[in-house]
Amino acid sequence: MNAPHVSVLLEPDWAAAALVADVRRGLGSVPRSLPPKWLYDDAGSLLFDRITRLPEYYPTEAERSILATFAPSIAHSCDATTVVELGSGTSDKTRLLLEAFEGAGHLERFVPVDVSEGVMREAAAQIARRHPAIEVEAVVGDFTLHLGHLTRYEHKLVAFLGGTIGNLYVEERAAFLGALSDSMGEGDWLLLGTDLVKEADRLIAAYDDAEGVTEAFVKNSLAVLNRELEADFDPDAFGYVPFWDPRLQRMDLRLRSEVPQRVRIPGAGLDLDLAAGEEIRIEISTKFTRERIASELGAVGLEVAEQWTDGAGDFAVTLARKGVLTPRPEG
Ligand code: AVJ
Repeated sequence: MNAPHVSVLLEPDWAAAALVADVRRGLGSVPRSLPPKWLYDDAGSLLFDRITRLPEYYPTEAERSILATFAPSIAHSCDATTVVELGSGTSDKTRLLLEAFEGAGHLERFVPVDVSEGVMREAAAQIARRHPAIEVEAVVGDFTLHLGHLTRYEHKLVAFLGGTIGNLYVEERAAFLGALSDSMGEGDWLLLGTDLVKEADRLIAAYDDAEGVTEAFVKNSLAVLNRELEADFDPDAFGYVPFWDPRLQRMDLRLRSEVPQRVRIPGAGLDLDLAAGEEIRIEISTKFTRERIASELGAVGLEVAEQWTDGAGDFAVTLARKGVLTPRPEG
């Protein structure tokens, strides 16, 4: 077996410095917000794992069922010899994909990319054990910062699953897709998982579950700030406000200060005065139509080759290919 090679592209103090910058920027101005990447400390990762098994939260199972059925077709449609997975974590969708690619007979290398070094090393070692014939070249990095690293791999498929792209704002998404396309050579492939627009009541239920796991997940962001920045947030002084924004086609998950309060965040040099009813946006989760996926990918030179959905039509997995033609600017 080849031991996995791990490239660490993040500075040791990267997380601490980035958290302070994000808190100053997001909480220090109105409307207040915090980027969702800080939700995934150990406690938050466990809570998210529980979310994926809630009866109301359909996306994980929907995407898994698509990959369970179509991974062999995906592997046969692409000639990729390297599979890159952005935000890989540990999930079993990676396993479905790698087994199909290995079965199709042309897989040489797997490149998982994740910000969390511990999770990454463990997952990479496990994959290397299970797939002794392929090279595992793990990257500890941020998928919004380190896509340039991927240009060294030719004939690749880049998988970005789970619907995580829905966390990005419209402009961030366009910038991310542009950078992703720039990191791909002609004929490279993208495999993208996206949640789809559907009835508001099902969307709201998925983010406002009966057990309150999603509320605990979103409120865990305050515990992260208390621990990392010695802040004094009282989670009980905040209400959980999840809503569907039909115009922007996204879930919007917020915490609302129930009372006027001052929160101290010494690690960020910030005292936060919140009025009663003032809200902090913690996460958006954008939902897509199949047309919108195709047009946003097309705008950066990625042509949709195939698109699969689960039986209920809840979630889509899109296979797109970097075209030979440069995209024409719209307008
Ligand atoms: C991991 C970003 C895909 O947006 O559905 C689940 C995160 N937040 N419940 C999503 C999440 C609240 C999830 N993603």
